[in-house]
Amino acid sequence: PLIQFTDHEGTTREIEGVAGDSVMETAVRNGVPGIVGECGGSLSCATCHVFVREDELDSLPPMEGMEDEMLWGTAVDRADNSRLSCQIKLCDGVKLHVTTPET
Ligand code: FES
Repeated sequence: PLIQFTDHEGTTREIEGVAGDSVMETAVRNGVPGIVGECGGSLSCATCHVFVREDELDSLPPMEGMEDEMLWGTAVDRADNSRLSCQIKLCDGVKLHVTTPET
């Protein structure tokens, strides 16, 4: 699985992830700016907020109620393509593009 992270300044880095890991875990391990993952993926911090490229949204598992609720508490306001990256698990062969918020 390959993930392209673009930060709020437009810098893109491409990271090869491991199937089964979440996008948040991959970002934290590689020091991607803008993703903190404070709660370790237990849906209680919202510091793993990302914007998913619009045409890839449908390929992700739909968001559950708790994620939706947590997205109202992000540092940078949510948008229609907002997701919490700890809830996005990588599968083999997948390619994702996400933009990380400033904070
Ligand atoms: Fe805390 Fe995703 S890491 S909600």
